[in-house]
Amino acid sequence: MSVQIENAFLEIEKKGYLDVEIDPSLDLFEEIEKLKREKNAVLLAHYYQEPDIQDIADYIGDSLGLAQEAARTNADVIVFAGVHFMAETAKILNPEKKVLLPDLHAGCSLSDSCPPPLFKAFKEQHPDHLVISYINCSAGIKALSDIICTSSNAKLIVESLPKEQKIIFAPDRNLGAYINKTTGRNMVLWNGACMVHEIFSLEKITKLKARHPEALLVAHPECEEPILRIADFIGSTTQILKYTEKSKNNSFIVATETGIMHQMQKNSPNKTFIAAPPDNACACNDCPHMKLNTLEKVYLCMKYGAPEVTMPEELRLAAKKPIDRMLELSKQFGLGG
Ligand code: 13P
Ligand code: SF4
Repeated sequence: MSVQIENAFLEIEKKGYLDVEIDPSLDLFEEIEKLKREKNAVLLAHYYQEPDIQDIADYIGDSLGLAQEAARTNADVIVFAGVHFMAETAKILNPEKKVLLPDLHAGCSLSDSCPPPLFKAFKEQHPDHLVISYINCSAGIKALSDIICTSSNAKLIVESLPKEQKIIFAPDRNLGAYINKTTGRNMVLWNGACMVHEIFSLEKITKLKARHPEALLVAHPECEEPILRIADFIGSTTQILKYTEKSKNNSFIVATETGIMHQMQKNSPNKTFIAAPPDNACACNDCPHMKLNTLEKVYLCMKYGAPEVTMPEELRLAAKKPIDRMLELSKQFGLGG
């Protein structure tokens, strides 16, 4: 955890609101709606959030959709039910707005796998390379990047650059390898990964496919190559969700965080969704960071206006440039949230 986040966390602990007991008779859905109106707040949620949070959110989306929504909102307060890099991106785009993250400890293993000082040294070893960074990284990494991408626009962004352009891709080695494979490029990859998407078991998925030959395997490109090789469809969370809605198929094995299955089931109530099995003892492929947010913490952060995501202005301005470039390119590609 960065010193900045640690300090902010100590600050809210000092104020004591984390210890506040919530009256169990309160209808939190009603209370949150009330707070939204009182504070002119918007609640943005990622698909990996728990179902209750998804149900009360004003907007649910993938990382690109969430960044686009954060860029266009007129609200005074953005409550970001996601992880730190997502709320940080919202703050970078909205310096005048208050951006709240229900649990400031909601980090990201992928973002943590790329510390800015090490990445700076890596970049210096490749002086003639352009840097494309996946949005799952800290503001410090964004500030060292030329263009930000997400899993829904990475391929188009790479393809928009001349073939001879040398590129560093950070921090996800799996998404980077997948983009190299699908574009025929040879980007230099930072060796980072997401703990949730690297945990799937090829052996167990292969057996599951044999037991459910009718089911299509849908996978997020943060998964390792052997999983992607046997997938029927690969895409961002929004792309996977849309694919399952449009597909004539009725059953799917889902190789990404399980939170997305709430929307899949809601949007296609008559279809069957099976979580792809992970290679761990607890058989769990929930993101421990995403799942730190709860409905109670959403309520508390809205009531007390904390914890708030902030950053030095110099860092914000440097991190904003590559995000703006991504938003501009996404508009050109016709990619909406
Ligand atoms: P997308 O929602 O952009 O597909 O990203 C998934 C993810 O891992 C977010 O942390
Ligand atoms: Fe980070 Fe992976 Fe969790 Fe997404 S699912 S927030 S990439 S650890």
